[in-house]
Amino acid sequence: MDKSTINSLMEQIAATRAATTKELEEARVRFLGKKGAITELFEQFRSIPADQKKEFGQLMNQLKNAAAAKIEELREVIENNGAAAEGTAKEDLTMPGSQYDLGSRHPVSIVRQEIVDIFRKFGYDVAEGPEIEDDWHVFEALNFPPEHPAREMQDTFFVSRGEQQTDENGNTVWHNPLLLRTHTSSVQVRTMEKKSLPIRVVCPGRVFRNEAISARAHCIFHQVEGLYIDEGVTFADMKQAILLFAREMFGPETRIRMRPSYFPFTEPSAEVDVSCNICGGKGCNICKGTGWLEILGCGMVDPNVLEASGIDSKKYSGFAFGMGVERIAMLKWQVKDLRNYFENDLRFLNEFNTVL
Ligand code: PHE
Repeated sequence: MDKSTINSLMEQIAATRAATTKELEEARVRFLGKKGAITELFEQFRSIPADQKKEFGQLMNQLKNAAAAKIEELREVIENNGAAAEGTAKEDLTMPGSQYDLGSRHPVSIVRQEIVDIFRKFGYDVAEGPEIEDDWHVFEALNFPPEHPAREMQDTFFVSRGEQQTDENGNTVWHNPLLLRTHTSSVQVRTMEKKSLPIRVVCPGRVFRNEAISARAHCIFHQVEGLYIDEGVTFADMKQAILLFAREMFGPETRIRMRPSYFPFTEPSAEVDVSCNICGGKGCNICKGTGWLEILGCGMVDPNVLEASGIDSKKYSGFAFGMGVERIAMLKWQVKDLRNYFENDLRFLNEFNTVL
């Protein structure tokens, strides 16, 4: 017997593995059984010279203890695993942790924030207002004539009909109905009423229209509308602000074009298209071959609107614009069906979880 035999046995013990009780028993027999390697060493102890007996005795005892401890350790692991299989185990600290899905921002929130951030950079404040509004802030103050179709039940969700009255012809009329705002221009009216001029605001928020839900329309969507009022504001200022916005949003090469349009609260009014960011204006299926994509409505605030909020239209002028957030998001990511934004289908939402 020499020390290298003891060392090699020590290494074998450390390297011993056992997955089952049978393997464990085999290991025990191999080292500590009647004919086991360690038992045999003890049998050779007699032949060791007397002056080395003490040293070897200690080493052999260490070896025996190490083997016994190892067998005991393996037995515990095997018993615990067996118990785990029966569902009675204490926690198994070697198991990988459970995975928690992290939430992420909704694509509509991402784009709304992006739009707002661009205008913030230009010096605009953010204003918010109620979703349940009165007729004044949604229509009357914005120069909607009484017979305008947007005031009808088909377009507007009413919360309450208001007070019942009889007009001079004996017909029943309703005053001061409450309704769900159909655009965030109502927040612009509320901002103008505060009369701290000049005004530079963007108004993000949810709006509601009584429309049949389809790939291109929904009864709830989001807008960001903007308003700029000061002395001497011109159409050229508006055009420049919108061009800068479009370039920030869709890239520095973006061009815009304006088409004449009509809104009760602006005069003149325009609809703005951006050059298609997919084909660069050559024409593709996203822009339906035109090279242009419509992104927003805008115009110079009608003097009637300024006056309705108590702003002197001789002294002040301004421009307003409004865009649908879902629409901008659809153009940005080529989402074909608006309903994706409202159905919370994780397969859709997960596509955006790396966009921060
Ligand atoms: N309020 C309009 C809409 O909801 C958008 C708009 C705002 C147009 C401001 C012109 C000026 O469609």
